[in-house]
Amino acid sequence: MQDMQIDDIVGDYEEINQSLSDGSSRKVLVTQQETDFPAGCLVVSQTDINGTITAANESFVTMSGYSLDEIIGSPHALLRHPDMPAAAFADLWQTLQAGNKWYGYVKNLRKDGGFYWVYATAIPNIREGVVQGYTSVRREPSKTKIEECKKLYREMLN
Ligand SMILES: Cc1cc2nc3c(=O)[nH]c(=O)nc-3n(C[C@H](O)[C@H](O)[C@H](O)COP(=O)(O)O)c2cc1C
Repeated sequence: MQDMQIDDIVGDYEEINQSLSDGSSRKVLVTQQETDFPAGCLVVSQTDINGTITAANESFVTMSGYSLDEIIGSPHALLRHPDMPAAAFADLWQTLQAGNKWYGYVKNLRKDGGFYWVYATAIPNIREGVVQGYTSVRREPSKTKIEECKKLYREMLN
């Protein structure tokens, strides 16, 4: 995956070399600018079985800061924030690959270096007994839960 570009970043940023689960790494540029999840919105995406994004709704585009063209065909790890522990995504993949529904709180990285918290549900799309891909729907997260997750994820990263 491409490194993040300085020209896209809004505000002061920290540069972090992020290791991905496939052994590759990517330079991410991270600011402390939070975008609140818009009340009542649903941020939706679909992926193929490898986690490559195949569809995204308008709210996904707005919240991520990327254009639809940039999103479609990219790995979902495009949004991976360095404050998210790898174990959270390992759990997501294990749960989905076992055919089950996963839910959790996720801090996502925007194209401009900022972040947004979501409460995400992900399910396998099964047709005639075969997993075709996955769908994720994200809702406004509870502020209390975010505070709990910040602490938990910090501990998991150490
Ligand atoms: C349906 C679906 C939705 C996902 N949504 C996100 C997401 O919003 N943010 C994110 O960082 N990872 C998301 N992932 C997980 C990524 O595929 C990936 O595992 C994660 O970003 C960690 O990157 P890595 O596995 O390359 O290390 C999603 C995966 C699936 C299958």
